[in-house]
Amino acid sequence: MISQQTIQQILSRIDIVEIVGNFVKLKKRGANYLGLCPFHNEKSPSFTVTPSKEIFKCFGCGVSGNAIKFLMEHEKYSYVEALRWLAQKYDVPIEETEVSAEVRQQQQLADSLYIINNFAREYFSNTLFNTEEGQNVGLSYFEERGFTQETIKKFQLGYSLNVWDAFTKAAISKGYNLEYLQKTGLVTVRNEQPGDNYRGRVIFPIHNQSGKVLGFGARILVKNDRAPKYINSPENEIYIKNRVLYGTYFARHAIDKLNECLLVEGYTDVISLHQAGIENVVASSGTSLTQHQLRLIKKYTNNLTILFDGDNAGIKAALRGLDMAIEEGLNVKLVLIPDKEDPDSYVQKIGAAAFREFIAANKQDFVLFKLQISMQEAGNDSSRKSQLVNEIAETISKIDKTEDFTRQQDYIRQCSQVLKIDEQGMINLVNKFIRERFQKKENQLAKEQAASTPPDDDLSPEAIAAMEAMEGGGEPAVNFFNPDEKQERELVKILLRFGDKPFSEEDKSTVADYIFHLPYDFESLADNEMVRKILREYKQFYDQDNLPDRKWFLYHNDQDISSMVVHIMEDKEAELSAAWKEKFEIDTVYGDNAYLKDTISTTNYLILRKIRKMIVENQQEMERSTVFEEQIKCIEMHKHLKQLETELTQGIGTVIFR
Ligand code: GTP
Ligand code: MN
Repeated sequence: MISQQTIQQILSRIDIVEIVGNFVKLKKRGANYLGLCPFHNEKSPSFTVTPSKEIFKCFGCGVSGNAIKFLMEHEKYSYVEALRWLAQKYDVPIEETEVSAEVRQQQQLADSLYIINNFAREYFSNTLFNTEEGQNVGLSYFEERGFTQETIKKFQLGYSLNVWDAFTKAAISKGYNLEYLQKTGLVTVRNEQPGDNYRGRVIFPIHNQSGKVLGFGARILVKNDRAPKYINSPENEIYIKNRVLYGTYFARHAIDKLNECLLVEGYTDVISLHQAGIENVVASSGTSLTQHQLRLIKKYTNNLTILFDGDNAGIKAALRGLDMAIEEGLNVKLVLIPDKEDPDSYVQKIGAAAFREFIAANKQDFVLFKLQISMQEAGNDSSRKSQLVNEIAETISKIDKTEDFTRQQDYIRQCSQVLKIDEQGMINLVNKFIRERFQKKENQLAKEQAASTPPDDDLSPEAIAAMEAMEGGGEPAVNFFNPDEKQERELVKILLRFGDKPFSEEDKSTVADYIFHLPYDFESLADNEMVRKILREYKQFYDQDNLPDRKWFLYHNDQDISSMVVHIMEDKEAELSAAWKEKFEIDTVYGDNAYLKDTISTTNYLILRKIRKMIVENQQEMERSTVFEEQIKCIEMHKHLKQLETELTQGIGTVIFR
């Protein structure tokens, strides 16, 4: 974990204009900077960066946040990855806490592999362009396939000489460790002689989402039945096949903007489509999709369009794997490329415009497509047919109906028509699958709760930051590692310190008025027993129009309350607002009253938490219910809650909720 000190050093150096400026061309307009939004397609700029507040906001699509959020959105980094990127940019040495020797060794190994791959990429590219064999064999091969120089450079393609150990020698003379060279798969040792593994092949570097080289695909140039067409890097610490999609680095912005990801099979399909200006495309490299890969796609879009080669024998098998995509909430469409072509050859044959039209005109819905294929197969076999009905019902049941209710309904109607079966029967069957899965999930959940390991991978960056910032503190009474509890204590702190301070000039209300007039009962929202007690007691005082002094709680006869209040009041972060005032110029909005921001953000946080719980509960109710009217109600509720959630996450101060 990155140390708190390092995080502070990094944060203190952030210059949002500079960071965003790395990715977006910005022009100064008064106190702000203006540019074309990188998150949606636009012709006139509505994306602004406000350095004084250290935030960006797009008035076109509504996305906003700070510099770290920008990196997380734009580069799809995790919070920690964004910090590492910033640390590197600003030359802040990263001090790690609690990293075991083993983990550090792993990191060093990964770093070494990246360095070797990067060297190899440069070496092969240099060989391609600057050696006779490279030009005569490699470059002319790429040219024959119709790749331009620009394309070759963009994808960093290369060539490996048909010489026993040309690369190996170069790498070893550079001082690279033979063991690591073998790990990357670039070098193999035969009869104790280390030599090049990709001799006489053209090289396709495989990049991760941020452009680092994870491994290589190396293609043979002449047809040879005894040698594989492609040799790919072996799995190692950095190259984990089922997590990689070829081309994500080059495709990510186009996928974001077009809100669609095209999936093809081969390296050359990706490259040719790019060259034709179709850039929202990645490749599975010939294997079936994994959940990791689907989630990678989901970071950018919900719309996945899969292009199958015309001669593809494995379509049936591929279709089975695609239920997983439905479960992940992806909207899957299929296109069959005709006549023994693949996307590479087809786009070169008919041109970019015709190719686009072809895709648009031939996109088929995955579920209906699957139904058609299976119907053809089943023919008149009635037992196969009933099996098919079950399969389709199961696929349909995997659509998240709270998010996409009408889609599920449509499928049920269309599929029962095609299958010539009763619609209500289909509904019941789909519901049966939902119930079964739900039951399974509940059992699993119960098991997990019994094991009581708190999940941490869904935490917001703020929560992680809070946790990281709290590291090293030690307090017996409250759980420092629970960001929710921190917010609950924050609420107590606000009441005790600022409860009687003015909240609104207009109606002369106080902070306590604000908190107790929100349509939420914070006492019941709080998880911490002690916090609930304090809130209950405070409210009793409030109702009698007689706000308690904080000394009252400090010297409370309940020892637990007293010690909690001591800790809350000692908390260094009590001074946070004052610091914010200097740092973020919050006084431009709130004057000296930075506590107002604390009040709003803390109450919002707790309300948001509640709403998220309600969303989950509502979803569960929805899953259980089989009555149409009930389901409609749940959907209305879902929409309403989602709306509230959006408002809250966008930091809108007031909440209206009935
Ligand atoms: P070209 O034939 O050069 O157009 O390549 P392609 O990308 O169209 O290849 P193809 O459609 O035959 O295969 C699709 C993908 O499967 C390739 O891009 C590779 O990632 C992978 N692949 C193909 N052949 C092999 C092989 O022999 N070994 C391995 N490991 N992967 C292969
Ligand atoms: Mn091909």
